[in-house]
Amino acid sequence: TYVVTESCIRCKYTDCVDVCPVDCFREGPNFLVIDPEECIDCTLCVAECPVEAIYAEDDVPDDQRDFIALNAELSRQWGPIVERKDALPDADDWAQRKDKLSELKR
Ligand code: SF4
Ligand code: F3S
Repeated sequence: TYVVTESCIRCKYTDCVDVCPVDCFREGPNFLVIDPEECIDCTLCVAECPVEAIYAEDDVPDDQRDFIALNAELSRQWGPIVERKDALPDADDWAQRKDKLSELKR
């Protein structure tokens, strides 16, 4: 499966959603996740994300491994997003920030 990591938090550019052939993105207030039960590993979303938030599970950086379980957990709680929408209003201000996990809204 593919995994959305920290860079997405408070950005939510949603370019990834448009290319997913199986509509497996799930949307929370300020973050998206990928449903690991649905992702078919097509790789298309990786290049679409302007903040490079998406990784193959095996390639998730060591300091972001918690996002693997978080994508699985939150995908069971959040509903689908199947069309691109505007990014969050201050997305560009948050795009380069690190250590954003405490900003995640469930
Ligand atoms: Fe969707 Fe493909 Fe990305 Fe998986 S790898 S989330 S199937 S676009
Ligand atoms: Fe998030 Fe990147 Fe998609 S910021 S919403 S993973 S395009």
